Amino acid sequence: MEKFDAGKLARSVCKTFQPYVAGKPIETLKRELGLKHIIKIASNENPLGPSKKAVKAMKDIADKVYFYPDFNSTELKMALAKHYKLKINNIIVGCGSDELIEIIARAYFNPEDEVVISKYSFTRYQMAVKLMNAKSVVVPMKEGFVHDLKAMAKACNKNTKAVFITNPNNPTGTYNTKKEFEEFLKALPLNKYGVKPLVISDEAYCEFASYKKDFPDTLKYLAKNPNLIILRTFSKIYAMAGARVGYGLVSETVSDYIERIRPPFDVNKFAQAGAIASLNDKSQVKRSVAHVRKEFKFIFAALNKMGIKYIDSVGNFFLMSVAPFKGKQVFQDMLKEGVIIRAMDEYELYDYVRVTIGTRKENELFLKKIKKVLKK
Ligand SMILES: Cc1ncc(COP(=O)(O)O)c(C=O)c1O
Repeated sequence: MEKFDAGKLARSVCKTFQPYVAGKPIETLKRELGLKHIIKIASNENPLGPSKKAVKAMKDIADKVYFYPDFNSTELKMALAKHYKLKINNIIVGCGSDELIEIIARAYFNPEDEVVISKYSFTRYQMAVKLMNAKSVVVPMKEGFVHDLKAMAKACNKNTKAVFITNPNNPTGTYNTKKEFEEFLKALPLNKYGVKPLVISDEAYCEFASYKKDFPDTLKYLAKNPNLIILRTFSKIYAMAGARVGYGLVSETVSDYIERIRPPFDVNKFAQAGAIASLNDKSQVKRSVAHVRKEFKFIFAALNKMGIKYIDSVGNFFLMSVAPFKGKQVFQDMLKEGVIIRAMDEYELYDYVRVTIGTRKENELFLKKIKKVLKK
């Protein structure tokens, strides 16, 4: 029989991809390294855990799991619409905001369309653009590892279908101000379709930055800028990364085309129930922001003492220079010490690692081990 090679059938663009490499689960590493105690501060999760109300809501529906979930996440959309004073058609939800990024690409990006992206921003945008055979136009950051919104507006032309802005940005933890964002929206030119390009403002970490007075409340711009897509998630501030639920605040005309192709049942029953309950627990946001701000002070004071350089962050993670060492090596050395952080080679930041804010105990352990590994 002839040997079957699926590569003969795969779309040629798929052959240029490599599987996404996420952090290894703790249990796998414990087995591999023979360590009893490992902490993971690598994926910008929220170590305080989800709201108790969310946990209860998820447990309470466990015996109903034989039913499919509501294919349209109606109650969750209603809860979000109420929360943001919008209509239900202004809300899109997906299996994490990650799925929404890909659905947006599938709904809107044609081959040869240009999509403007900042250097050192979330890698998943470029993957979604490539999957559609569209073209990423990558704009360098300005000083201080900040999106250069002026340059990004200038990079838009007749072929520009969309612009991705990550605010606050992952992995740098930096942000664009209200003024910068407003000027950017105004500066955008019309494209060959006679409209402004989509502006996808990925705000996965926005709640952590809400203490900054000049951080933009982009919802204010939605009515006048129907090309705006505000992406948010329950994975970070609400500590529900394992449930996979993200959402977007959009104009009705934008959601129309997303809903036409969104896979039904993509947001599972537990995620829908947990997300609704999370929204009803106001204390979750407050306590998570307070924890992260307090721990940043603690960690940065210690890093200053050791003379380690880092980038100030408004997210729940930060980028740290490990020069003259290489990030990949430091990542490996920290693993052996039982601390999982993230090397930044995929972002071409070879001298950096990214660290998520953990509990106080985890942060203390991180500081002790990084001191040892960097020989400080
Ligand atoms: C900037 C940014 N956007 C989107 C996501 C995806 O989040 P989720 O799919 O968990 O909602 C992440 C996850 O780390 C992120 O950092």
